[in-house]
Amino acid sequence: MWCEMTDEDALFTITDKNLDSGLRGVPVGTCQTSFVDPYEGVHYVGYPVEDLVNMEEEDVIFLLFYKRLPTEEESEEFRAELTQRGKNIPTGALRILESLTPGSGHPMEWLSIGIMALGTAEKTGDTRADAMNLIARMPELMARIFRLRGGEKEKLKARRPGLGLVENFVHMMGFEGDHARDIERVLRFFFILHMDHGGGNLSTFSGKAVASGWASIYSSISSAMNALSGPLHGQANQACLEFVKRIGTSDHNEIEDFVRTELAQRRKIYGFGHGVLRAEDPRARLLFELGDEICPEHEYFKIARALREVIPPILSEIPKISNPYPNVDIASGSLLHSVGFRKPEYYTTFFGWARVAGISAQILDERNARDGRGTPIYRPKYIPVNQPLRRIE
Ligand code: MLT
Repeated sequence: MWCEMTDEDALFTITDKNLDSGLRGVPVGTCQTSFVDPYEGVHYVGYPVEDLVNMEEEDVIFLLFYKRLPTEEESEEFRAELTQRGKNIPTGALRILESLTPGSGHPMEWLSIGIMALGTAEKTGDTRADAMNLIARMPELMARIFRLRGGEKEKLKARRPGLGLVENFVHMMGFEGDHARDIERVLRFFFILHMDHGGGNLSTFSGKAVASGWASIYSSISSAMNALSGPLHGQANQACLEFVKRIGTSDHNEIEDFVRTELAQRRKIYGFGHGVLRAEDPRARLLFELGDEICPEHEYFKIARALREVIPPILSEIPKISNPYPNVDIASGSLLHSVGFRKPEYYTTFFGWARVAGISAQILDERNARDGRGTPIYRPKYIPVNQPLRRIE
């Protein structure tokens, strides 16, 4: 992965074709939390994500923050710190969520507003403390968004200190017993898979760009969530389940007809392709493996599994498609659906919740760069076009 270079070696040659290309592939910085190998997918601090996916979520957050897995004692301390920081959420600030109309807007808008509201109440200006406070608050913020936006405030349970992040969300949502355990399993898996994805994905990049001007963690993460809310980025998991529902069959021939018609109409095929990956996203494979275990007969999961087989050969016929393989969004929605999250518009909030940890860790690394002076404020260059010099006569 790493190669020896001197400061003068060219990393990349910029030509005209790199302009207006979304900075695709253009190196702009370094990342210590994760990298995405085009064939092997995401690795967190060197570990392929499949090695981490069955761990406690707090231990993986520790890894992103400290670049190594915790000892047992450190793990306990870290969890205890999060428990402590999660106490007494500033409900005054969050009343802003209660003033929003249930069902209005998108849950990602609620998430972004909620994060900003927390910032107004408890920002300290200490990057690590703010990041840890926000991570600790996220389960309760998420549960409030679900229940307040759903007009079911009465179902919201009080946070129970001592529970893990995912466990607490499930508890506050009011789920119990075996059902709660199933949800926890899927959510923890989903949570770890989505925590980080290199430095250049849009939400992480946006969050770091905002943070580079020394905006607070809350402003930076809220901006990142707004970036994530786009259907070409995080909201693709919602779009993907809606796509699966529209297809409505796991019959291979019918799927093939459907997909060919969509392509002929120049419509997007959700759940396939990626800006960096050139093989099936290992996160997709891991989700399929979990689905095979927990919900093999679930209608939408069966459709997603059929899409995984039918679509890549069809997309491979199109020369300009460099990655015809499934990405992480292909199966995540059907798994969330299988454990009872029936409203796809909420799926991106789970993605966002997970990403808070990775983006915060990356912001911390950038703040610590250059002996604590931090990465300079982002200021890429744009080349002026269609602007001949002129004057008002
Ligand atoms: C992600 O996890 O952020 C997505 O796969 C998008 C990306 O990496 O660019």
